[in-house]
Amino acid sequence: MTIETRPHGKVGAEILGVDLGHLAPGDLAHIRAAFAEYGVVFFRDQAIDEAQHIAFARALGRININRFFAAHPHHREIALVVKEPDQRTNIGGGWHTDHSYDREPALGSVLVARELPPQGGATDFASMAAAYDALPDDLRECIAGLRAVHSARHVFGSKALAYADERDAPKGRIGNAPAADGLSDVTHPVVIIHPLSGRRVLFVNPGFTIAIAGLPEAQSRALLDRLFAHCRDPRFHETFHWQPGSVALWDNRATWHLAHNDYHGHRREMHRITIEGQALEAADPLTA
Ligand SMILES: [Fe+2]
Repeated sequence: MTIETRPHGKVGAEILGVDLGHLAPGDLAHIRAAFAEYGVVFFRDQAIDEAQHIAFARALGRININRFFAAHPHHREIALVVKEPDQRTNIGGGWHTDHSYDREPALGSVLVARELPPQGGATDFASMAAAYDALPDDLRECIAGLRAVHSARHVFGSKALAYADERDAPKGRIGNAPAADGLSDVTHPVVIIHPLSGRRVLFVNPGFTIAIAGLPEAQSRALLDRLFAHCRDPRFHETFHWQPGSVALWDNRATWHLAHNDYHGHRREMHRITIEGQALEAADPLTA
């Protein structure tokens, strides 16, 4: 097994010489180490079926059964991330971190490309450790010790789905709005100590973070907007171009991601398995 960092070395690494369907002794330890170091790892030319996908995810942790995405008809562990040729919106088209609205946010996901458009449909990843390290001093001081509010209701709740594009929403891609409506918002530290790498990581994202706890709304919005603008800087990003057999394993606590929506008229089907995580610890503001 060899590990190649991405072309610009910003976030992510490609792992070569491994068969995810038949892991050799020691492979898992190497994959875990690279995952902790790079935030997202990519594999090419994997011929794994659904059962092997599930087995690999299970080797990494407990599987989260998704509440909002359509499930694979035969494997409820697999959430379908699909865009049909006639659909305009895609899933995950803005920067976000999956499951940050959970009290114990998911560790990450294993995404397998099943059907790809002839071109387009790439995924961008952003390193939240690199973004934290590059924060201007005043912003770093400003967020020390703060917590942020995360919510799913504005994305998966009944009000959000009522406004969704008529052609897109009813196709069974996303559902279970009552479950989202019933979810309480949660707070997490704005800066966490990453449970695997020990690095300081920014844990706010434009998809699900709706406020900074305890701040007046205008101040909260301004601070989040400033943090998001900082993290949107391409110097923290990498783009992954999917091919048949591509697999990505990303860490939701260390990265943001965004799915390109540039292949209208073509179908794209990805299979996602999400792995349960843990409560997140705040970085000590005194040593920030
Ligand atoms: Fe996502």
